[in-house]
Amino acid sequence: RWGAAAAALVVVPSAGLAGFVWADAGRGNVGTLRFRNRLPIPPQLDASTGAALTLRSGESGLLPGRSTPTWGANGAILGPTLRARRGARVSVAVTNRLPETTSLHWHGMHLPAVADGGPHQPIAPGATWRPTWTVEQRAATLWYHPHLHRTTARHVYRGVAGLFLVDDEYSDTLPHDYGVDDVPLIVQDRNVTRDGRLDEANLGFGGLATTGLLGDTILVNGGYDPYVDVVTRRVRFRLVNGSNARVYSFGFADHRAVTLVATDAGWLETPVRCTRLRLSPGERAEIVVEFEPGERVVLRSWPPELGGNVLTQRLAGGDDTFDVVQVRAAATLRPSPAVPERLTTGVRRPAITVAEPFRLELGEFHLNGAVLEHGRIDRRVAPGSVERWEIRNPGQNVHNVHVHGASFHLLDRDGAAPPETERGEKDTVFVPADSTVTLAVRYGTHVDARTPYMYHCHLLAHEDAGMMGQYVVVGSGGVAPAHRHGE
Ligand code: C2O
Ligand code: CU
Repeated sequence: RWGAAAAALVVVPSAGLAGFVWADAGRGNVGTLRFRNRLPIPPQLDASTGAALTLRSGESGLLPGRSTPTWGANGAILGPTLRARRGARVSVAVTNRLPETTSLHWHGMHLPAVADGGPHQPIAPGATWRPTWTVEQRAATLWYHPHLHRTTARHVYRGVAGLFLVDDEYSDTLPHDYGVDDVPLIVQDRNVTRDGRLDEANLGFGGLATTGLLGDTILVNGGYDPYVDVVTRRVRFRLVNGSNARVYSFGFADHRAVTLVATDAGWLETPVRCTRLRLSPGERAEIVVEFEPGERVVLRSWPPELGGNVLTQRLAGGDDTFDVVQVRAAATLRPSPAVPERLTTGVRRPAITVAEPFRLELGEFHLNGAVLEHGRIDRRVAPGSVERWEIRNPGQNVHNVHVHGASFHLLDRDGAAPPETERGEKDTVFVPADSTVTLAVRYGTHVDARTPYMYHCHLLAHEDAGMMGQYVVVGSGGVAPAHRHGE
């Protein structure tokens, strides 16, 4: 089926629609921002003492002089940064004051499936959902967002999302003064109409919108046109791609090298110097950046490598350059400790324990030829097992793969060693058009034969279209793939 879709796309340039496509894509904002607004920093909330989130609608002042109806948690847009230490017992009471049923998923968290907040844990309007679990994993930048089937794209786009930071015994060796030298950057793209409403056209895919919505208004932590003041020599930024579909390639306008210290699932063993960092929707990275006193420098997103052909680039935003946030360094900067040469231990890739690899073909817009059915369990896996996933995206659309309740390491990209920036532990991986990626997926240990975890494309329009499968962790018997393998 993907073959037909790809062929349909390839004929577009000669079909007289090319002008429309080119005019609509290839947007960017460089030169249009003035960095007029202080970057909002979401308040922190300790999840180990029992946190409460109320999902509600509100009004946000995004663009100058206009008020935008948005959704958020405990506020009009986005939500507080939940926080807990490894080993802590956490509980969150999530009350839905939105006009429709939603859910709240803890992206990247290792927890029992009943607490996961996916499509199997809906929260009706007026209801309160009270998941509780023990934080088992290493320090990491995780995030939360709605995950109801077919409404995820809209609910996230309207503004329901936030961070969940896990701390551990290593956390304090890097800058960790939240909002001062440890700064979250939740990057999301939006389209805003003239009268200030969020434009929801193309939230689903269809026609030429093969990725779902790509916006030309960049919000950072729910704020538009932002700058951030820094007062220390080194600052740790937690980059989160909270966008529906857009892939970013972050880097500073002056091309300075930054120090990558963590990927999705936590700290690297040793830091990696880099100038660009590609993040697809749902992926996170932590970087430490050095500043000179008094300087101003812009964090930018450059056209990302998306694979595929020219049309892939155009339709998936591969031509777009965006200014994200301007950093303003104070005239004198407080000293910061150097980044240690060894950050943490124990993140080496575990050995594969399952004989058969799982082959996953990303179609348009399905997995191994199937779309999600709530009642169908696609796979059964053994607790704590480590399985090789061979993922293939044979088409001209971009996708990614996120696995709930698990973490993974990349084994290769297109048969070659993964880039240094992708060698840490992760839970979401970008799969460019016409490419392959192989993973070693380590499953969690919580057995529950009745409640599935999801794995899916994190381009939200694709996910909502059913590009999602379900697995359960069962007590014994190893991996029994029920999916059909690639056609
Ligand atoms: Cu960030 Cu299944 O989701
Ligand atoms: Cu996809």
